[in-house]
Parts: sequence; C-alpha cells; structure tokens
Amino acid sequence: MINVKLISPNFSDLISPNVEAKQFPDGENYVRIPELNKYREKEVTLFHRLYPNQDRMLIQALLLLNILKNIDAKVTLVSPYLPYARQDKIFLEGEPPSSEIICKILADAGANKLLTFDCHFLKKEGKFTYGGLDIENISMARFLVEHAEKKFNDKFLIISPDVGASYMSKEFGGGHMEKVRGTYVEGQETYRKIDKLESDVDFKDKNVLIMDDMISTGSTMLKAVENVKKGGASKVVCAATHGFFLKDSFSKLSSSCDYFFVSDSIPSQVSHVSIRVPLKNLI
Ligand code: R5P
Repeated sequence: MINVKLISPNFSDLISPNVEAKQFPDGENYVRIPELNKYREKEVTLFHRLYPNQDRMLIQALLLLNILKNIDAKVTLVSPYLPYARQDKIFLEGEPPSSEIICKILADAGANKLLTFDCHFLKKEGKFTYGGLDIENISMARFLVEHAEKKFNDKFLIISPDVGASYMSKEFGGGHMEKVRGTYVEGQETYRKIDKLESDVDFKDKNVLIMDDMISTGSTMLKAVENVKKGGASKVVCAATHGFFLKDSFSKLSSSCDYFFVSDSIPSQVSHVSIRVPLKNLI
C-alpha cells in the first residue's frame, strides 16, 4: 500500500495543506478532499489538529474520515492533542465517559489509528487500544527536558505536579507532587478546584523543571510553582506538552516563574519545542 498524506488547514504551520475546510453561512462545517481518487485503497496519514475549536475540529475530522472510509483508505489520524481526554472517569452519576466515547466515534468514522502526544488518560508512552481505537501515544518529555537544559546550559531537578504526569519526569529520575481535586465549582463553567498540591521533595537551591502534560487554566502549574519556590528553589522553569493558556494563566506564569514553554502541539508564542522532530518520518 502506498502511503499518502492529507493535511488540514490547521496543520499549515508544519506542512502545506491539501484539504479544504470551510464553514457554511450558518456555521456548519464544509470539508473536501480534492483529487479523491489518489487516496482510494491507500494508507493515508491525515494531519488534523483537534484543538483549538475542539467541537468544530472533531466534526471536520469525522467528515474527512468518513470520506476516506468510503474509498477503503486505511487512515492514521495525526492529532497532537486529543480533546475530551480529561473526562476519563465518571465522578458523578449521570456523567459520560467522554474520552472513551470520542475514541469510539473516531474509530467508527474510519480512523484505523490515532497518533497523538501525551494523551491525558494513557499516562505513558506506547501503543494502546482504547474505546476500540488503536492509539500511538508519543511523549514530548525528552524534548522538553532537552530544551530546558540547552537554554540554561544546566541540569534540572524534574518534578510533575501530579501522579498522572509522573511518567514524564520519572524517566529523568524526577518525582511528582500530590494533587487532590475537590468538588465541582458552582456555576456554568465546570471544573474541580485543586484542594491540595504538595510534595516532600527537597527543592532548596535547586534548578527545578516542573513538567506536565498540559497547561489549561494554569492553576495546577501556578500552585506547583508556589510550592517549589516555598521550598527554596533557585530557578523555576515550567514546561508542558500542550499549552492552552486559558484565562490569565499566560501573564500569571510570566510573572511567577523564570521561564515557561510548551510544544507546538497547540501553536503559541511559547511553543519552543516542535512535534516535527518525533514526526520526522511522517512529515
Ligand atoms: C490534570 O490532571 C492534568 O495533568 C493537568 O495538570 C491539568 O489538566 C492542568 O489544568 P489546569 O492548567 O487548568 O490546572
């Protein structure tokens, strides 16, 4: 089988797009794969980000996968950040297992495999089957560490803010903090407050790299910085694979730590590490 590439417009920072994705006047999605016959019965790598605008991007992915399914293409979907990956457990009766549902929908639509990075619910690098979808999960941890060490020409004590991301620091002899989430906050927005985030690691006079899978509202990272600073660290650097930088997290991080950066799984002004490196055989 010949391997061919399809690239969505939202991957244009890394490769030239050859898929059309637009909106109808009412906001619904329009997608088109020009020269469709080129992909018939082929192994196709579909590069399509699922964030930002996760719901819209998911619909676009489902439409594209369906077109390819109908021409018997075997599709590897490359989506660096998998949305809905955080609701992998049911906390309250009546909630959906969102991560599993999304994987199932992608598989049903025609994804033979998903290639993604530091997927929240997998908690380690490797190959998995989840919700009926084959997933290859690549960790950006080594590239993040490499960048920090190069930038400061120094070694770091590496720590993750919780057990879930501890696989990212463990490989480098690092530890993790303990995060305890509380109940859901009141109101329209739904998230669980962090009740506790602490560790007994000795940070005194150390260069500390705090590494997580994602920075969303930044509350985890900011609490971790506070903790590390209290412990007497001499330098505090924050890194994550996926940077959303919601609310005022970007400015708060700018003023609280010595340096922070993420990968370009979600492009931002602090995407100083590229997923292009681990994807080099595909791009
Ligand atoms: C949680 O388990 C994740 O690994 C991250 O620590 C978390 O999702 C980051 O979210 P926020 O930036 O909103 O604290």
